[in-house]
Amino acid sequence: PVEHTLAVIKPTAVKEHKDEIMQKVTNAGFIVSQMKETNFTREMATQFYKAHEGKPFFDQLVNYMSEGPSVIMILTKENAVEQWRQLMGPTDPDVAKESSPDSLRAQFAQDILRNAVHGSSNKEHALKTTGAPGSGEAQVAPVPGV
Ligand code: CMP
Repeated sequence: PVEHTLAVIKPTAVKEHKDEIMQKVTNAGFIVSQMKETNFTREMATQFYKAHEGKPFFDQLVNYMSEGPSVIMILTKENAVEQWRQLMGPTDPDVAKESSPDSLRAQFAQDILRNAVHGSSNKEHALKTTGAPGSGEAQVAPVPGV
């Protein structure tokens, strides 16, 4: 099925690798259905990463994500959620370099916190954050809250 997923290029990667990352996104066949460059406030970052609240790295994560502009996109493709996760690679760039050297995190992450990109972890999250109603069929949808 054609799906939407939410993708974020994180602050350090926006500063250093935005054009290269965008090139790889389009080369991989993703349609950039929406794109917006926004500096997350601490409140937005807290809301966005609510699932991680209470984890030892949460404060660092909120600080990092609000330190500069991020690029927030809705990417559209067959099996976009899983395909984007594959292009990102594992959360930890040290793992990514071993298992998926071509992935974005292997190439552009600095460390596990500043790991270049984010993507929806599953279809439910993708639907919620892209605002696409229904069962995962592609529809033009707003990026809420940003
Ligand atoms: P992301 O895929 O955006 O989802 C949660 C984020 O938390 C993750 O990428 C990293 O930026 C960050 N993160 C996850 N695990 C750790 C960790 N052990 N130490 C620091 N940051 C982490």
